Amino acid sequence: MPNTVVVGTQWGDEGKGKVVDLLTAGADLVVRFQGGNNAGHTLVVGGKQFIFHIVPSGILYEDKKCLVGNGLVVDPEVLLEEMDKLTEAGIDVPPERLSLSEKAHLIMDYHRAVDHAREAAKGKDKIGTTGRGIGPCYEDKAARTGVRAVDLTEPETLKDKIETNLKEKNFYLEKFLNAAPLDAGAITDRYLQMAERLVPYITDVSMELALAVKAGKNILFEGAQGTHLDIDHGTYPFVTSSNPVAGAACAGAGIGPNQLHHVVGIVKAYTTRVGAGPFVTELLDETGDYIQEKGAEFGATTGRRRRCGWLDLVVVGDSVRLNGLDSLAITKLDVLTGLEKLNICVGYEIDGERISHRPASLKRLSRCKPVYKEMPGWSEDITGARTPEQLPAAARDYLGAIEDIAGVPLSIVSVGAGREETIMLRDPFRGSG
Ligand code: GDP
Ligand code: IMO
Ligand code: MG
Repeated sequence: MPNTVVVGTQWGDEGKGKVVDLLTAGADLVVRFQGGNNAGHTLVVGGKQFIFHIVPSGILYEDKKCLVGNGLVVDPEVLLEEMDKLTEAGIDVPPERLSLSEKAHLIMDYHRAVDHAREAAKGKDKIGTTGRGIGPCYEDKAARTGVRAVDLTEPETLKDKIETNLKEKNFYLEKFLNAAPLDAGAITDRYLQMAERLVPYITDVSMELALAVKAGKNILFEGAQGTHLDIDHGTYPFVTSSNPVAGAACAGAGIGPNQLHHVVGIVKAYTTRVGAGPFVTELLDETGDYIQEKGAEFGATTGRRRRCGWLDLVVVGDSVRLNGLDSLAITKLDVLTGLEKLNICVGYEIDGERISHRPASLKRLSRCKPVYKEMPGWSEDITGARTPEQLPAAARDYLGAIEDIAGVPLSIVSVGAGREETIMLRDPFRGSG
């Protein structure tokens, strides 16, 4: 039974939450391996909407274990809020159901302060971060000054680290960013208070996974963000500060590559992006507005309006290679219903030359023009379709074109936000659908 990784192939918000929720039915454990509460993963189950920022999207199944890996940056306040909301909704989250890696780094108050002040200082050149302190926390991890979850179990270590870090952070905040300094004592007290609730959840996630592997259990790895927001492979510097690609599941959860057996790439049937950065197929016309409204394309974390455009198979093709995708899950196909003609970007043209991969240079990328394959649209409501045969021929052709051009078989087609609004072609955990 294959362990499966779910990743976004575009710029995030592809519908990872929905697909992870679906696949959790066949898994025993669900693990997040990177990012933090910049993620907003939406599930609609029984007509009720849930949005998760840190807790893995498998949490709605009572008998599954969810784990937050070492590769994440965790804001403890947000994690506790999320646990409280689940409890309010009647879903208990005891330590038997949720683990937090002792090696995960903690987002501190000064990380959020730096994120905000830096973006404000950048003005029109800002990246458009989610303002959650993600980048500054990963910076401290790389600088070897970060605070880890395990530090919550040692009050003296925590206090010392916060005091030492704040000396430098306050200097930077006050003198360089013209922002207010923070108080070490107040931060320490707040984090120690949260530690009282969180310490029972702190474990060695890598060891838990090793035991699960030994017991023959199925593990589902939930990616956050998307391949083109990857710090190495994305549209740098308009990226996040972690590696959302599938390979990062190993380092970010503490498991060997031989334990990853299937990689599902989620492809939204069109493209969206929140925040700044290049977007070759962006639609700045009424078709873009139509998709934005029909797809309710507002950020699940920040509420920002998402930029919309045609499906870009140059972007998806790069993701096939970077993640080693075994199958594709196409989401939000229903949103395209009602458009007379659809475009799929099958290449870029730059200075008269045709290319099929996104250039690293933003200057070169800004000169790239999309080469489109035009396809007929459909007008029938497809949200009730549960088999490919129930889709209009034009919708089947659209899916066929994606499969052919990307060169990867489809496993799932999503035709609505609800768990049941799905055409399951091939469940990686169960052989066939
Ligand atoms: P994630 O970050 O990749 O988990 O995606 P988000 O949750 O941020 O954004 C996806 C949005 O689309 C959510 O509001 C989902 O409920 C919704 N959604 C997912 N799949 C479908 C679908 O097939 N059709 C429609 N109409 N909405 C969908
Ligand atoms: P999910 O998991 C879409 C974007 C931000 C910004 C850039 C850097 O829901 O798909 P950061 O706060 O990470 O430093 O911001 O990355 N971004 C996302 N966009 N979906 C996400 O997550 C994102 N997480 C970060 O908008 O452009
Ligand atoms: Mg999202």
